[in-house]
Amino acid sequence: MDPFQQILKSTLARTDDAPQAVKPQALLEAELKPRIAHIAVDDFLSLAKARRTIYTLGKDLPIAEDNVVEIIKEAIRQAPSAFNSQSSRALILLGKEHDRFWEMVRDQLRKVIPAESFHATSDKLDGFAAAAGSVLFFEDQEVVTHLQRQYIAYADNFPVWSEQSSGIAQYAVWLALAEKSIGTNLQHYNPLIDLDVRAAWQIPESWKLRAEMNFGSIVAAADEKSYIDDDKRFIVAR
Ligand SMILES: Cc1cc2nc3c(=O)[nH]c(=O)nc-3n(C[C@H](O)[C@H](O)[C@H](O)COP(=O)(O)O)c2cc1C
Repeated sequence: MDPFQQILKSTLARTDDAPQAVKPQALLEAELKPRIAHIAVDDFLSLAKARRTIYTLGKDLPIAEDNVVEIIKEAIRQAPSAFNSQSSRALILLGKEHDRFWEMVRDQLRKVIPAESFHATSDKLDGFAAAAGSVLFFEDQEVVTHLQRQYIAYADNFPVWSEQSSGIAQYAVWLALAEKSIGTNLQHYNPLIDLDVRAAWQIPESWKLRAEMNFGSIVAAADEKSYIDDDKRFIVAR
Protein backbone atom coordinates (compact mmCIF):
# COMPACT_ATOMS: atom_id res chain seq x y z
CA MET A 1 0.00 0.00 0.00
CA ASP A 2 1.47 3.39 -0.93
CA PRO A 3 1.81 6.12 1.71
CA PHE A 4 -1.17 8.02 0.37
CA GLN A 5 -3.39 4.95 0.73
CA GLN A 6 -2.06 4.44 4.27
CA ILE A 7 -2.87 7.98 5.32
CA LEU A 8 -6.26 7.62 3.69
CA LYS A 9 -6.84 4.33 5.52
CA SER A 10 -5.92 5.85 8.89
CA THR A 11 -8.17 8.84 8.14
CA LEU A 12 -11.05 6.49 7.36
CA ALA A 13 -10.38 4.60 10.58
CA ARG A 14 -10.62 7.68 12.77
CA THR A 15 -13.51 7.59 15.21
CA ASP A 16 -13.17 11.06 16.72
CA ASP A 17 -13.91 12.75 13.46
CA ALA A 18 -17.43 11.67 12.59
CA PRO A 19 -18.01 13.81 9.47
CA GLN A 20 -14.84 12.42 7.83
CA ALA A 21 -15.54 8.85 8.90
CA VAL A 22 -18.83 8.71 6.97
CA LYS A 23 -17.50 10.35 3.82
CA PRO A 24 -17.24 8.04 0.81
CA GLN A 25 -13.70 6.99 -0.07
CA ALA A 26 -13.74 8.77 -3.45
CA LEU A 27 -14.61 12.07 -1.77
CA LEU A 28 -11.90 11.62 0.84
CA GLU A 29 -9.35 10.77 -1.85
CA ALA A 30 -10.26 13.95 -3.70
CA GLU A 31 -9.77 15.94 -0.51
CA LEU A 32 -6.61 14.24 0.71
CA LYS A 33 -4.64 13.84 -2.50
CA PRO A 34 -4.02 17.54 -3.14
CA ARG A 35 -3.21 17.99 0.54
CA ILE A 36 -0.54 15.28 0.50
CA ALA A 37 0.92 16.32 -2.84
CA HIS A 38 1.05 19.77 -1.33
CA ILE A 39 3.14 18.81 1.71
CA ALA A 40 6.48 19.33 0.03
CA VAL A 41 5.64 22.77 -1.17
CA ASP A 42 4.23 25.13 1.36
CA ASP A 43 2.18 23.49 4.06
CA PHE A 44 4.27 22.99 7.17
CA LEU A 45 1.38 22.05 9.45
CA SER A 46 0.18 19.28 7.10
CA LEU A 47 3.69 17.89 7.15
CA ALA A 48 3.84 18.21 10.95
CA LYS A 49 0.59 16.25 11.12
CA ALA A 50 1.76 13.61 8.65
CA ARG A 51 4.94 12.97 10.67
CA ARG A 52 4.25 10.06 12.96
CA THR A 53 6.05 7.28 14.81
CA ILE A 54 5.98 4.36 12.39
CA TYR A 55 6.96 1.01 13.88
CA THR A 56 6.30 -1.24 10.86
CA LEU A 57 9.03 -0.21 8.46
CA GLY A 58 10.54 -1.87 5.41
CA LYS A 59 13.67 -1.60 3.30
CA ASP A 60 12.08 -0.28 0.06
CA LEU A 61 12.90 3.39 0.29
CA PRO A 62 10.84 5.54 -2.09
CA ILE A 63 13.95 7.56 -3.07
CA ALA A 64 17.61 6.69 -3.60
CA GLU A 65 19.69 5.97 -0.51
CA ASP A 66 22.13 8.75 -1.40
CA ASN A 67 19.27 11.26 -1.46
CA VAL A 68 18.12 10.07 1.95
CA VAL A 69 21.63 10.56 3.30
CA GLU A 70 21.78 14.07 1.84
CA ILE A 71 18.36 14.96 3.29
CA ILE A 72 19.44 13.78 6.74
CA LYS A 73 22.66 15.78 6.55
CA GLU A 74 20.94 18.93 5.30
CA ALA A 75 18.19 18.73 7.95
CA ILE A 76 20.87 18.55 10.65
CA ARG A 77 23.00 21.26 9.03
CA GLN A 78 20.04 23.64 8.94
CA ALA A 79 18.88 22.92 12.50
CA PRO A 80 19.51 25.85 14.87
CA SER A 81 21.83 25.52 17.87
CA ALA A 82 22.79 27.78 20.77
CA PHE A 83 25.41 30.32 19.70
CA ASN A 84 25.36 28.48 16.34
CA SER A 85 27.56 25.95 18.10
CA GLN A 86 26.47 23.10 15.74
CA SER A 87 27.03 20.51 18.43
CA SER A 88 24.88 17.81 16.78
CA ARG A 89 26.62 14.87 15.13
CA ALA A 90 25.15 11.88 13.33
CA LEU A 91 26.09 8.38 12.30
CA ILE A 92 23.97 7.24 9.36
CA LEU A 93 23.74 3.47 9.01
CA LEU A 94 22.41 1.69 5.94
CA GLY A 95 22.03 -1.87 4.78
CA LYS A 96 24.24 -4.34 6.62
CA GLU A 97 25.60 -1.67 8.96
CA HIS A 98 22.05 -0.92 10.12
CA ASP A 99 21.45 -4.65 10.68
CA ARG A 100 24.77 -4.87 12.52
CA PHE A 101 23.72 -2.05 14.82
CA TRP A 102 20.47 -3.77 15.83
CA GLU A 103 22.33 -7.05 16.46
CA MET A 104 24.62 -5.05 18.73
CA VAL A 105 21.62 -3.74 20.66
CA ARG A 106 20.20 -7.27 20.87
CA ASP A 107 23.49 -8.62 22.30
CA GLN A 108 23.58 -5.94 24.99
CA LEU A 109 19.91 -6.34 25.91
CA ARG A 110 20.31 -10.11 26.18
CA LYS A 111 22.72 -9.47 29.05
CA VAL A 112 20.19 -7.45 31.07
CA ILE A 113 16.78 -8.92 30.22
CA PRO A 114 15.71 -12.25 31.75
CA ALA A 115 15.82 -15.08 29.18
CA GLU A 116 12.13 -15.97 29.71
CA SER A 117 10.94 -12.51 28.64
CA PHE A 118 13.60 -11.82 26.04
CA HIS A 119 11.52 -13.05 23.08
CA ALA A 120 9.25 -9.96 23.25
CA THR A 121 12.27 -7.66 23.19
CA SER A 122 13.82 -9.67 20.41
CA ASP A 123 10.63 -9.39 18.29
CA LYS A 124 10.68 -5.64 18.78
CA LEU A 125 14.31 -5.50 17.66
CA ASP A 126 13.45 -7.57 14.56
CA GLY A 127 11.00 -4.80 13.71
CA PHE A 128 13.71 -2.15 13.99
CA ALA A 129 16.16 -4.22 11.96
CA ALA A 130 13.50 -4.54 9.23
CA ALA A 131 13.88 -0.81 8.53
CA ALA A 132 16.20 0.44 5.78
CA GLY A 133 18.54 2.39 7.99
CA SER A 134 19.10 4.33 11.16
CA VAL A 135 20.43 7.69 12.24
CA LEU A 136 22.30 7.81 15.52
CA PHE A 137 22.24 11.30 16.98
CA PHE A 138 25.14 12.48 19.11
CA GLU A 139 26.06 15.72 20.84
CA ASP A 140 29.72 16.68 20.82
CA GLN A 141 30.69 17.33 24.44
CA GLU A 142 33.91 19.01 23.35
CA VAL A 143 31.78 21.77 21.84
CA VAL A 144 29.76 22.02 25.05
CA THR A 145 32.74 22.26 27.39
CA HIS A 146 34.50 24.71 25.08
CA LEU A 147 31.49 27.02 25.23
CA GLN A 148 31.25 26.62 29.01
CA ARG A 149 34.84 27.84 29.34
CA GLN A 150 34.33 30.63 26.84
CA TYR A 151 31.08 32.01 28.28
CA ILE A 152 31.28 31.36 32.01
CA ALA A 153 28.03 33.20 32.77
CA TYR A 154 26.11 30.66 30.65
CA ALA A 155 28.07 27.59 31.75
CA ASP A 156 25.04 25.83 33.26
CA ASN A 157 22.95 26.40 30.16
CA PHE A 158 25.17 24.85 27.53
CA PRO A 159 24.43 21.18 28.38
CA VAL A 160 20.69 22.01 28.36
CA TRP A 161 20.93 23.87 25.07
CA SER A 162 22.89 20.99 23.59
CA GLU A 163 20.04 18.61 24.48
CA GLN A 164 17.53 21.04 23.00
CA SER A 165 19.61 21.32 19.83
CA SER A 166 19.66 17.54 19.54
CA GLY A 167 15.87 17.43 19.87
CA ILE A 168 15.50 20.05 17.16
CA ALA A 169 17.89 18.14 14.86
CA GLN A 170 15.96 14.92 15.48
CA TYR A 171 12.65 16.59 14.69
CA ALA A 172 14.11 18.21 11.58
CA VAL A 173 15.23 14.82 10.25
CA TRP A 174 11.91 13.24 11.25
CA LEU A 175 9.98 15.88 9.27
CA ALA A 176 12.34 15.90 6.30
CA LEU A 177 11.99 12.13 5.92
CA ALA A 178 8.21 12.25 6.46
CA GLU A 179 8.04 14.77 3.63
CA LYS A 180 9.51 12.08 1.36
CA SER A 181 7.01 9.49 2.69
CA ILE A 182 9.77 7.76 4.65
CA GLY A 183 8.61 6.44 8.02
CA THR A 184 10.66 6.74 11.19
CA ASN A 185 10.65 5.82 14.86
CA LEU A 186 12.86 7.09 17.64
CA GLN A 187 14.60 4.81 20.15
CA HIS A 188 16.86 5.19 23.18
CA TYR A 189 19.15 2.26 23.85
CA ASN A 190 21.94 4.59 24.94
CA PRO A 191 23.97 4.45 27.12
CA LEU A 192 23.83 0.62 27.09
CA ILE A 193 25.26 0.48 23.56
CA ASP A 194 27.59 3.49 23.64
CA LEU A 195 30.89 1.61 23.91
CA ASP A 196 29.99 -0.91 21.20
CA VAL A 197 28.94 1.87 18.83
CA ARG A 198 32.09 3.84 19.51
CA ALA A 199 34.29 0.84 18.79
CA ALA A 200 32.39 -0.33 15.70
CA TRP A 201 32.32 2.98 13.84
CA GLN A 202 35.32 4.81 15.35
CA ILE A 203 33.16 7.43 16.99
CA PRO A 204 35.16 10.19 18.72
CA GLU A 205 35.13 9.95 22.52
CA SER A 206 33.55 13.38 22.86
CA TRP A 207 30.42 12.36 20.92
CA LYS A 208 27.63 11.48 23.35
CA LEU A 209 24.90 9.26 21.92
CA ARG A 210 21.43 10.75 22.51
CA ALA A 211 18.95 8.85 20.29
CA GLU A 212 18.59 6.22 17.59
CA MET A 213 16.13 6.81 14.75
CA ASN A 214 15.05 4.04 12.38
CA PHE A 215 13.80 4.93 8.94
CA GLY A 216 12.31 2.99 6.05
CA SER A 217 9.32 2.43 3.84
CA ILE A 218 5.97 2.68 5.59
CA VAL A 219 4.58 -0.85 5.78
CA ALA A 220 1.76 -0.05 8.23
CA ALA A 221 0.44 3.37 9.16
CA ALA A 222 0.56 4.73 12.71
CA ASP A 223 -2.38 4.27 15.03
CA GLU A 224 -4.71 7.12 15.69
CA LYS A 225 -3.21 9.74 17.99
CA SER A 226 -4.99 11.43 20.88
CA TYR A 227 -4.42 14.99 22.02
CA ILE A 228 -4.83 16.60 25.43
CA ASP A 229 -7.26 19.50 25.70
CA ASP A 230 -6.01 22.86 24.52
CA ASP A 231 -7.14 24.52 27.76
CA LYS A 232 -4.66 22.35 29.69
CA ARG A 233 -1.91 23.23 27.31
CA PHE A 234 -2.11 26.77 26.05
CA ILE A 235 -2.52 30.16 27.61
CA VAL A 236 -3.14 32.97 25.19
CA ALA A 237 -3.13 36.49 26.54
CA ARG A 238 -3.75 39.66 24.61
C1 LIG B 1 12.00 12.88 23.19
C2 LIG B 1 11.26 11.67 22.66
C3 LIG B 1 11.63 10.42 23.09
C4 LIG B 1 11.02 9.28 22.56
N1 LIG B 1 11.47 8.03 22.89
C5 LIG B 1 10.93 6.95 22.31
C6 LIG B 1 11.47 5.66 22.56
O1 LIG B 1 12.46 5.51 23.26
N2 LIG B 1 10.86 4.59 21.99
C7 LIG B 1 9.77 4.73 21.16
O2 LIG B 1 9.27 3.72 20.65
N3 LIG B 1 9.25 5.95 20.88
C8 LIG B 1 9.82 7.06 21.43
N4 LIG B 1 9.33 8.30 21.14
C9 LIG B 1 8.16 8.43 20.24
C10 LIG B 1 6.92 8.85 21.01
O3 LIG B 1 6.41 7.77 21.74
C11 LIG B 1 5.90 9.40 20.00
O4 LIG B 1 6.49 10.52 19.35
C12 LIG B 1 4.61 9.81 20.66
O5 LIG B 1 3.90 8.69 21.15
C13 LIG B 1 3.69 10.56 19.69
O6 LIG B 1 3.44 9.79 18.55
P1 LIG B 1 3.81 10.31 17.10
O7 LIG B 1 5.32 10.39 17.00
O8 LIG B 1 3.23 9.30 16.16
O9 LIG B 1 3.22 11.67 16.92
C14 LIG B 1 9.95 9.43 21.65
C15 LIG B 1 9.58 10.73 21.24
C16 LIG B 1 10.23 11.81 21.74
C17 LIG B 1 9.82 13.19 21.24
